Amino acid sequence: MRVLSGIQASGDLHIGNYFGSIKQMVEAQKTSDTFMFIANYHAMTSVQDGKRLSYLTMQCATDFLALGIDPNKSTFWVQSDVKEVLELYWILSSFTPMGLLERAHSYKDKTAKGIASNHSLLSYPVLMAADMLLFGAEVVPVGKDQIQHVEIARDIAIKFNNLYGDILTIPEFRVQEDVQTVPGIDGQKMSKSYGNIVNVFGEEKKQLKVIKKIVTENVAMEEPKEFANCNVYNMAKLFLEGDNLKALQNRYKAGGEGHGHFKIYLAEVMWEYFKDFREKREYFAANQGEVREILASGADKARAIAMPIVEKIRTATGIRY
Ligand code: ADP
Ligand code: TRP
Repeated sequence: MRVLSGIQASGDLHIGNYFGSIKQMVEAQKTSDTFMFIANYHAMTSVQDGKRLSYLTMQCATDFLALGIDPNKSTFWVQSDVKEVLELYWILSSFTPMGLLERAHSYKDKTAKGIASNHSLLSYPVLMAADMLLFGAEVVPVGKDQIQHVEIARDIAIKFNNLYGDILTIPEFRVQEDVQTVPGIDGQKMSKSYGNIVNVFGEEKKQLKVIKKIVTENVAMEEPKEFANCNVYNMAKLFLEGDNLKALQNRYKAGGEGHGHFKIYLAEVMWEYFKDFREKREYFAANQGEVREILASGADKARAIAMPIVEKIRTATGIRY
């Protein structure tokens, strides 16, 4: 089964991204033919500082390799390295009714938030459709906000196939229902756009400073404390299992410790959890040439899959003359 997903390189990775998405992708490598790319053309809709976009692209590649994306198991590349995606984007545009794009939630939400409505924001789902259809994706794991984009890709592909024959694979979305929403330091969903994130790769002292800001209930030190709705506990449980989790629950129930103690414990378990990943990250950060080589050979692998599909499309549409 061919599983494909893209990630926008638009900011620092946070623990919500890791537990909500990256960890699943790393798991999927064991059983599926996984395709993963850094959506740098898409990121241009929000990052329009050239130096920053190229920096974020390399940072994202470095982080993903450190966190377990394995180029021997997955095809891992940068979107702009397989330019045929832009050709397909244009071709698909002719099969995309304007109404479909104008009704897209993500477009409506972004423009409602005051983001300027330019063409790339509107046509974002068409490029996303090209991302999936160019590589014959069968399953596309996404967050709930992206389901509609996969549905748009399906609509476009069905229209195309009705005209030109069974050329494009119709993708299906997969939403991870059992993945919980990771809370941010203010208790809302953790998100780059809410300024409430805990980074995966941060400096130890800074991490502790951020963790100390987590909003908690005001309960006297000696009193027993609720753990189920505590933001500190809900983050800590991502990193703990079995007896260690039970032990933390007992510390809440026993009283005698304040939330400050639990925060220090959270900072410690988190630091320990990402230790090996941090070491791998240091390696890749010091060997950016190797990261570039991995991306280049990933792009070659991705192109080799795309080209037979591109050829069929060019022939069927008459672009090949
Ligand atoms: P952000 O909200 O920070 O901009 P993205 O929209 O780029 O994050 O999300 C990238 C991936 O991480 C998506 O698959 C999304 O479902 C997942 N994700 C983001 N925030 C969380 C969270 N707080 N809890 C669980 N998963 C999350
Ligand atoms: N739009 C997706 C997001 O913001 C990223 C993305 C781009 C993507 N192209 C894709 C995801 C193709 C899945 C398939 O999360």
